[in-house]
Amino acid sequence: MTQCCINPSILSADFVNLEAELKRISNADAVHVDVMDNHFVPNLTIGLPVVQRIQAVSPVPLDAHLMIADADRWAPGFADAGLASVTFHAEASIAPIKLARELRNRGAKAGMALRPSTPVEPYLDMMSELDMLLIMTVEPGFGGQAFLDVTLPKIRRARAAIDGSGIGVAIQVDGGITEETITRAAEAGANVFVAGSAVYGAEDPGAAIDRLREAGSRSLRNATAE
Ligand code: DX5
Ligand code: ZN
Repeated sequence: MTQCCINPSILSADFVNLEAELKRISNADAVHVDVMDNHFVPNLTIGLPVVQRIQAVSPVPLDAHLMIADADRWAPGFADAGLASVTFHAEASIAPIKLARELRNRGAKAGMALRPSTPVEPYLDMMSELDMLLIMTVEPGFGGQAFLDVTLPKIRRARAAIDGSGIGVAIQVDGGITEETITRAAEAGANVFVAGSAVYGAEDPGAAIDRLREAGSRSLRNATAE
């Protein structure tokens, strides 16, 4: 059965106390680190030096989500920093196959992200070059937005194509994931769930992760049983 992973986003954490905030999610599968350049998205977060410090102290592996222009130039540096997984946006890459290979060659898992309105079909033939496909379920840039149900058919089509070709690519969803929306995303075929406000907005982030994992795993089991 496909494994259900919960990756909390530190976008909703207290940026002044990141080390303590990381300890609160030590039962997570990975920590989702949102890198924004105020160019690809209208918001600015952190860059490679801060990500390297997070990598040095984090109890769980890092899953970087690069919302930056010119990914071909900047993404490999994040793989060189030893991150477990590096995801770039298809819309920000001129040569996504070359870039995915470069990330893998540098020891990271290669992820590629699609904005809500970017179709998956032009990329289906390159799925074997990826470890993870990230289907954005909000417009990238900000935490706390509502889940876009309009992305569900794309998740379903991507899952069908991936399963049909027998390759083991994870499907990550990011944006508006709660105990309620995780069910729909998992039933559509996602298996890696990013949650910012649902985890860090909870009184006990660790317990919120457990609840999300339970809801996600239940829906994945139901989807497999169908
Ligand atoms: C949005 C980011 C997300 C964001 C998710 O551009 O990529 O990772 O932090 O936050 P929530 O879970 O609050 O929608
Ligand atoms: Zn993200």
